[in-house]
Amino acid sequence: MKTTYKLLKDNLEYLKLKGMLNELDETIDTIISKDLGFAEGLLELTNIEIAHKKSNSIKAMVKTGAFPFIREIKDFDFDFQPTLNKQLILDLQTLSFMEDANNIVFLGPSGVGKTHLATAIGIAAAKNRVSTYFIKCHDLIAQLKKAKLENRLDERLKHFCKYKLLILDELGYLPINKEDSKLFFQLIDKRYEKKSVIITTNINFGEWDSIFGDPVTADAIVNRIIHHSKIIKMSGKSHRIEQHLKSMEEYNETQINE
Ligand SMILES: Nc1ncnc2c1ncn2[C@@H]1O[C@H](COP(=O)(O)OP(=O)(O)O)[C@@H](O)[C@H]1O
Ligand SMILES: [Mg+2]
Repeated sequence: MKTTYKLLKDNLEYLKLKGMLNELDETIDTIISKDLGFAEGLLELTNIEIAHKKSNSIKAMVKTGAFPFIREIKDFDFDFQPTLNKQLILDLQTLSFMEDANNIVFLGPSGVGKTHLATAIGIAAAKNRVSTYFIKCHDLIAQLKKAKLENRLDERLKHFCKYKLLILDELGYLPINKEDSKLFFQLIDKRYEKKSVIITTNINFGEWDSIFGDPVTADAIVNRIIHHSKIIKMSGKSHRIEQHLKSMEEYNETQINE
């Protein structure tokens, strides 16, 4: 015959209460050692289940975000980019910019931390259960182009509009032809003043004609993006190159010492 303990475990399993199940033994110990009553004990157990469900939902939101890496603001070395306004970045992390559907543009050369900061804000959003999606501009355009060919452009545009926060990485690394620029415009226009976008780019706004191959479309895109936006210009050293040089130095030192 099954013991009460075993029957309880079976019930928790059947009800899919994984948090309670995993921590059942510890919770029973706590309930006994603190001499808790029935209601208090049940409260203890249900709190554990709630924490477990919240943590799972956060993990799922971060996974859905499709971030290129898991790096947060706490992993960013502000001393390395002294011209960057740290307080502004910390403010962005509170997500208040999203209340008015403001955009963020990280503008600067390669390796200065644009993708890192865009991802960090995206992860902060996902952790707050704000639906967020990260995609490279070029992949986005390839997807829109394919959808157009398959006569389901509207559906695809709606898909990219459903995310409360969309991160478009590496705008301007590859040129976009006139027709594809119009697809990009449609997406930006659909989200305009409704939902936020974070863009990373290495090209100054004045030169966006060269990305989009059509000055009229480029102008329409720039206008909508910068109208309500925080533009964060990043200069300074490339962290990527610096790390590389550092590891080369360390390697050389070990070679000399051996
Ligand atoms: N200030 C910084 N502190 C810590 N890591 C940084 C910093 N800047 C860049 N990195 C790291 O350097 C690498 C390149 O940064 P990334 O954000 O991809 O640059 P960008 O998008 O501007 O080309 C990443 O691994 C990133 O985490
Ligand atoms: Mg980048």
